[in-house]
Amino acid sequence: MCGIVGYIGTQAATEILLAGLEKLEYRGYDSAGIATIWEGDVQCVRAKGKLHNLRSKLEQLETPAQIGIGHTRWATHGKPEEYNAHPHLDTAMRVAVVQNGIIENYRELREDLKSKGHQFRSETDTEVIPHLIAEIIKKSPSSLLDAVRQAVSHLEGAFALAVISADYPDELIVVRQQAPLVIGFGQGEFFCASDTPAIVAYTRAVLPLDNGEIARLTPLGVEVYNFAGDRLKKQPRLLNLNPTMVEKQGFKHFMLKEIYEQPGVVRASLEAYFNNDANAARSSQSPINLGLPESFYADIEQIQIVACGTSWHAALVGKYLLEQLAGISTQVHYASEYRYAPSPLMANTLIIGVTQSGETADTLAALAMEKERRQGKEAKYQARLLGITNRPESSLGHLVPHIINTLAGIEIGVAATKTFVAQLMAFYALALDLAAHRQSISPDKIADIIEGLRQIPKEIEATLETQESLTEQLAHQFAETQDFIFLGRGINFPIALEGALKLKEISYIHAEGYPAGEMKHGPIALLDAKVPVVAIAVPGSVYEKVISNAQEAKARDSRLIGVTPVKDGEAGEIFNDLLPVPTVDELLSPLVSVVPLQLLAYHIAARRGLDVDQPRNLAKSVTVE
Ligand code: G6P
Repeated sequence: MCGIVGYIGTQAATEILLAGLEKLEYRGYDSAGIATIWEGDVQCVRAKGKLHNLRSKLEQLETPAQIGIGHTRWATHGKPEEYNAHPHLDTAMRVAVVQNGIIENYRELREDLKSKGHQFRSETDTEVIPHLIAEIIKKSPSSLLDAVRQAVSHLEGAFALAVISADYPDELIVVRQQAPLVIGFGQGEFFCASDTPAIVAYTRAVLPLDNGEIARLTPLGVEVYNFAGDRLKKQPRLLNLNPTMVEKQGFKHFMLKEIYEQPGVVRASLEAYFNNDANAARSSQSPINLGLPESFYADIEQIQIVACGTSWHAALVGKYLLEQLAGISTQVHYASEYRYAPSPLMANTLIIGVTQSGETADTLAALAMEKERRQGKEAKYQARLLGITNRPESSLGHLVPHIINTLAGIEIGVAATKTFVAQLMAFYALALDLAAHRQSISPDKIADIIEGLRQIPKEIEATLETQESLTEQLAHQFAETQDFIFLGRGINFPIALEGALKLKEISYIHAEGYPAGEMKHGPIALLDAKVPVVAIAVPGSVYEKVISNAQEAKARDSRLIGVTPVKDGEAGEIFNDLLPVPTVDELLSPLVSVVPLQLLAYHIAARRGLDVDQPRNLAKSVTVE
């Protein structure tokens, strides 16, 4: 998982590359580097750690080069050291390559190239590529495009590349094979990047490459080919993203800004998915419009969901909704596990992949496996695939026939917040849509739930208002705490998991999420006065049970923090601290109960002086398995 950028045109490349890398740092920040061509040579500068280290190194070496490539790394093969940082060069230092992905057969290629006299300087899989290209150029120096195309035919794996060579100073070659790459079109200048935020400040005309495509960028234009060398006709399209969407807009961190954007995300989802006409909502037709064809709804007998990380938590809430509202048996799998141990092949199964980025390799691989094993089987076993993603133009969009586009807008903070809420909204809409089609609950009940959803934006706003200072105060007290337990039941069990994950990801505090009733079967042994317990206790089917479970923790001296709308009675007595949330229907409560947990994690991490938006070792989406 890494970010790559490239530039060719009339301006000095370095600053454009650095600005692009800044927007891609969410994809990894173990090291960074850029290579340009100046006065007939490749100039390559790399630095361990975050981009500012590279920036300071570059201050001593300003070149007006008008072509270059850059990279920000999330280490896979080889430690996060400078010698493993991209760009990588061939032995004669004429060819420079940046890569996002993994070259699976790099060992064989490396041995072969070594035996031909190539000298390797890193432990990475990527370094074989410049050597391979140089070897091909040595034999037939026809064009850089051709050499890269030939080199790619030797590579196995999933990758996106950008390549320049001092011997071909007017071309930048880019390749996409199962890892994202977009080309940006300016006036006499062209860009490439792993993701659009890196180029949106310069152009909104973009062309996302498809798998198996290679492009040559020159100051005169862009040519796109397939791997067989046939020229393809492709047109850029206009991006619906403006540069301010990827700025902090006065917030200290992207994560805080994104938490505050959640009411807007719910509003956008309500607008897009639900019919505004209240009478129509009470009719027998589905008041939800997800753009799915009628055939999609026929005969679904069960649902399998694959996802990772926060998306997996959203899927657990989804399971609850799909089973309780639409009455469809649903299983949720870690995508990385499902690929190697899938459920037995069942007929009439809907398979849903949930991934905000649409690029998580584990999720894509699980979906591809499912598609493949169903191919050629009788109709009822054929793959019915649905993707839920914030990036419909992503690799997921290419893989599945149906997409629910979550409407969070671009999320920069590595810890997912608003995209989680957007995924929940997609699941509410899908479960209600299926319920309407199957008539598993009455139109009135569906209309009531939709009415409840319409109140959620202002309930989240109220929560944000009361929670900001409360969570900040609590953060002050818990900044040095080493372990946390989060408890929830029913539809709020996944929220306990998500609260624990947020805290782990950005504050590095050990945290566990548990179904409250399960605590007594093991984790209770961890409890003492040093281990606070956060319990989500919202009125409804499991409220009393959660309160009893919280009592069990209290009896072991744990300090209890209650996420609850209830201020008096037993709740008022047992909780040491309250993070009050508004009273909403239990079924909708995850949309509000997650907010104080996000803020608590945020403030604890900020209090500890940590890099909230770019926590150590993580990347926003992981494009390697
Ligand atoms: C990474 C991120 C997580 C994210 C997970 C799944 O591990 O650090 O925050 O939840 O990937 O990402 P996806 O894009 O598939 O939702």
